[in-house]
Amino acid sequence: MENTVSKTTLGLNLPTDPRWVDLAAMSMQDILTDHAFCEQKAASTIISIIQMHSDKPEIVEALSPVVTEEWGHFRMVLAELKKRGLTLGIQRPDQYIKELMKGKPKGTGRDQMFLDQLLICALIEARSCERFKILSQKLEEQELKDFYHQFMVAEAAHYKLFLKLAKNFFEEEKVMTRWQYWLDHEAGFLPNLEVRGDRMH
Ligand SMILES: [Fe+2]
Ligand SMILES: [Fe+2]
Repeated sequence: MENTVSKTTLGLNLPTDPRWVDLAAMSMQDILTDHAFCEQKAASTIISIIQMHSDKPEIVEALSPVVTEEWGHFRMVLAELKKRGLTLGIQRPDQYIKELMKGKPKGTGRDQMFLDQLLICALIEARSCERFKILSQKLEEQELKDFYHQFMVAEAAHYKLFLKLAKNFFEEEKVMTRWQYWLDHEAGFLPNLEVRGDRMH
């Protein structure tokens, strides 16, 4: 990648397209609905990780409270929808996750899958955090700014936790090489995704 592409916060290779937040501001119902499902997916993904790695006490202990937190986030978004006279609505296809998952190699061993799982979670948390930051800075309504600021802080902590867990189980160099792989993979498909205001990603 050219040196002209500056690194964004959280080490992401590409910043979000600046047009996204203006589109999002015009579709708050869709953004809130999509966000609610993101939180729900975060909770269910982390439950799956705990189920698959129940033999690792560090994972069980570190991630159990995060499930509660993500479910709490889901409920916070539900409350925000309700306050605005809106309802949850239906879940829509998640193109970002679909593209992200194409980077997962097939037929790797359990260890590699575990590392990838942790790094994929870290990446989704980092990208979500970046988007919440943009919403908290650029939306006009103070209440929404504060609302998204809370998520930005929480997801930044989750991003760090997933990277830390990866380093607990694997050599730092292996983790960072693989992390770079995922950052590059994301930066490879992100510019090709349609910029739309009804999706968080
Ligand atoms: Fe969350
Ligand atoms: Fe999170």
